[in-house]
Amino acid sequence: MSQSSNQPREQWASRVGFILAAMGSAVGLGNVWRFSYVAGENGGAAFLVIYIAMILLIGLPIVMAEFTIGRKGQSDAVGSFEKLSPGNERLAPGEPWKIAGIMGVASAFMILSFYGVIAGWILYYLLNYLTGNLWSAPTDGYGAFFGEFISGSFQPIVWQFIFMALTIGIVFVGVKKGIERANKILMPLLGILIIVLSVYGLTLGGASEGLAFLFSPDWSALANPNIYLAALGQAFFSLSLGMGALITYGSYLSSKESLPGAAASVATLDTLFAIIAGLMIFPAVFAFGIDPAAGPGLVFVVMPDVFDSFALGGIFGILFFFLLAAAALTSAVSLLEVAVAYFIRKFNWSRKQASLIVGGIIFLFGIPSALSQGVLAGVGFGDLDFIDSVDFIASNIFLPLGGLIIALFMGWGFKKADALKDSDFGNTVLGNLWLFLLRYVAPIGIIFVFLSSIGVFG
Ligand code: TRP
Repeated sequence: MSQSSNQPREQWASRVGFILAAMGSAVGLGNVWRFSYVAGENGGAAFLVIYIAMILLIGLPIVMAEFTIGRKGQSDAVGSFEKLSPGNERLAPGEPWKIAGIMGVASAFMILSFYGVIAGWILYYLLNYLTGNLWSAPTDGYGAFFGEFISGSFQPIVWQFIFMALTIGIVFVGVKKGIERANKILMPLLGILIIVLSVYGLTLGGASEGLAFLFSPDWSALANPNIYLAALGQAFFSLSLGMGALITYGSYLSSKESLPGAAASVATLDTLFAIIAGLMIFPAVFAFGIDPAAGPGLVFVVMPDVFDSFALGGIFGILFFFLLAAAALTSAVSLLEVAVAYFIRKFNWSRKQASLIVGGIIFLFGIPSALSQGVLAGVGFGDLDFIDSVDFIASNIFLPLGGLIIALFMGWGFKKADALKDSDFGNTVLGNLWLFLLRYVAPIGIIFVFLSSIGVFG
């Protein structure tokens, strides 16, 4: 049996605090860095259509399921399953469902390990905008500057370390004190900034091509099965879904709030952020003659050209990389919190001990990702390098698989009346639609995408 920690469980200060924390978890590098390059690689508008369908039919119902499980279970990702499905004569408590929680803790390790690396790149760019170094293009251009930095053996690790230290620091002092405040100010500022930049980007001369790329689908792209897996993985990644992050956050919630409204706001805001980031990036991509399928470096090579194209653009560079780093931090905190909450309960560690040990191990796990663009180039699966391999396995396989189990748990493992009551839906049309999506649409959709990506349908 697992031990239970004797510290009282923290709670969010307010309903707004919870929504802000969930939004802070959702909005991060996934919306700007990952969305733009994955959309760029997968045909732009056609990808966006599939992505939005995945959010509505699969993502949003599972967000609701995670919130419900967390608030009802009042424990971490694994413990909530143990509490809610008491087992029977053949099965231990939580079996077999808690496999989703255990996979979730593993996913948190994997995702944060490379998330810290990319966020480190952001911090390095922030420094270079603060010093003025990137206010005008280096002699070999921004692309060469980026390539040189990420292929180094020292700098990427240093910046990854700094970012992880900040993340650990926040989880160390406790999730409530640490994040409710930051989200209130910095996230809206990031939203305003990317809106301003996307309006400006439309004047750069790539507007019609950029808008067409993002909004006018080339339906032939739908014939490629990889686009579905990419969209599914991106939906889970961006919503912080499928690994119990939202279960963990839901567990810090008392039972007074209404979950469906919270879930809808989080998903809407997260999707808007991604679309606006696309509006900011793709017109600029075409204006500066960059390949939209350039890969994970896309924002790092496009945005400096944007900031270089108007007087004092460097100030926007500072703001952009600062606010993006802040958004990455609130997301990273939610990743670390999943693992830390589990270790606190399971091993009766203190929060401080758990943050340092777990965070430290995740930092070490991330070092091969930090080196993947240099000395470890060539190490990975197939044509993916190491960092992209970790991302692929965690985001495109583990998260949707976790989501599948969560959907089945809520849809089939829960009594229908309890699911409707515990989710705050009640026996309403929406509530029944939600259960229908959880029971049939999400599981079949996820399995279908998996099968099609391994070529089962030709
Ligand atoms: N959603 C975050 C982003 O878009 C990343 C993230 C935070 C995450 N917590 C997560 C992804 C949990 C998957 C699972 O940047």
